[in-house]
Amino acid sequence: RVMVELQQSLNRFCLFSLLLLVQFHWRVGVGSPIIALAGDDVILPCHLEPVTSAASWTVEWTKPGLDPEFVHVHEDGRLLHEIQNPSYYYRTRLFVDELEHGNVSMKIFEVKLSDEGTYRCSLPVVQEEVFVQLIVGKLVQNSESLRKSVNYLFRNNTIFKNVVPTAGPEAIV
Ligand SMILES: *[C@@H]1O[C@H](CO)[C@@H](O)[C@H](O)[C@H]1NC(C)=O
Ligand SMILES: *[C@@H]1O[C@H](CO)[C@@H](O)[C@H](O)[C@H]1NC(C)=O
Repeated sequence: RVMVELQQSLNRFCLFSLLLLVQFHWRVGVGSPIIALAGDDVILPCHLEPVTSAASWTVEWTKPGLDPEFVHVHEDGRLLHEIQNPSYYYRTRLFVDELEHGNVSMKIFEVKLSDEGTYRCSLPVVQEEVFVQLIVGKLVQNSESLRKSVNYLFRNNTIFKNVVPTAGPEAIV
């Protein structure tokens, strides 16, 4: 009889866990696009909320429209290098120590203008996905003196450079 009750409460627990799983929803670390200058390293945020370990799950970062679309697929504790789009070879990483905290953000090293676009973060286990937009700008004027005095303002999806405080910021994206 005790066993039956134990079994029943176990079943209830399983059902409860299943419900929790179904209720997963995603949050992106920031609501606005990620903005970077060509050559920068960027982190595209994506994490599970409520916090749940993704350490044993497959994490897929893709860029819809790219062929092949796989930017970084993490499975069985490693990057599936063989299906990765060659333009991202050796330029991406997940934070492996962060996976157990549900943080499946991806870093891209030295972004190029062609990296700009929408990235999709998904975990097939929870059948959820999130889209993160990356905007990559470049310096239009590039003289040495300008490089020394330039200040960047990232605002409103646009990178502004502030050359002289009295002159208004000039959009360069
Ligand atoms: C995820 O990990 C990265 C790298 O450590 C960190 O910059 C970022 O803030 C983390 N995000 C969350 C939601 O903890
Ligand atoms: C931000 O961009 C939107 C759309 O392009 C524009 O309507 C708005 O005025 C801009 N805001 C600022 C502060 O520049």
